[in-house]
Amino acid sequence: MYMLEQIIENRRTVKPDRYTGEPIDDELIWKLLKAANWAPTHGLTEPWRFTVFSGEAKKELLQFLNDLDAELNGSNEVRNEKRKRMIDASSHIISIGMKRGTNEKIPELEELLAVAMAVQNMWLMAHSLGLGAYWSTGQLAFTDEMRRYLKLDVNDKSLGFFYIGKPIADLPKGKRITPIEEKVTWK
Ligand SMILES: Cc1cc2nc3c(=O)[nH]c(=O)nc-3n(C[C@H](O)[C@H](O)[C@H](O)COP(=O)(O)O)c2cc1C
Repeated sequence: MYMLEQIIENRRTVKPDRYTGEPIDDELIWKLLKAANWAPTHGLTEPWRFTVFSGEAKKELLQFLNDLDAELNGSNEVRNEKRKRMIDASSHIISIGMKRGTNEKIPELEELLAVAMAVQNMWLMAHSLGLGAYWSTGQLAFTDEMRRYLKLDVNDKSLGFFYIGKPIADLPKGKRITPIEEKVTWK
């Protein structure tokens, strides 16, 4: 199998319950971010915007998420505890944002697609460096409150969080429900 084929097939969602809790060098995180910046875009809009949370900043993020959850859904200790475990186990958490450009010829959808490509680049790079990573979305991530917290403007979007940590031993087994042949019309 070609090396790239292996990297693509073996990249996995590795959630924080499978992280050792060890810190990762910022230098490696920069490698992920640089890979993200090589994603293609229509019109070179480069709409991805990231905020990296590590160390003390993770505690601020946790507090913000707990407060927002309490405001929107009512305070819930079980959810707070789960969130704390996820954030504590992660070395870095990168918020994923989309900065809407001013070129009206580029639809928003294309900017969103480009951000997803940037995340895939980060994810493949994380995997090739032996790091575990996970894209988490959900209710709080998509709120205006979260968008403002990330200093994104009204036309921008908050698209979730990329959790990163050192994985414990084995990666989870990958699966796909249907083979590619069922999703392709070849004429
Ligand atoms: C845009 C996007 C959002 C995701 N959000 C979540 C999420 O909120 N919770 C979750 O458990 N997994 C989430 N995932 C991860 C998927 O569950 C995971 O990619 C899928 O199960 C396939 O596993 P694999 O990444 O190991 O191939 C998300 C993935 C993508 C691409």
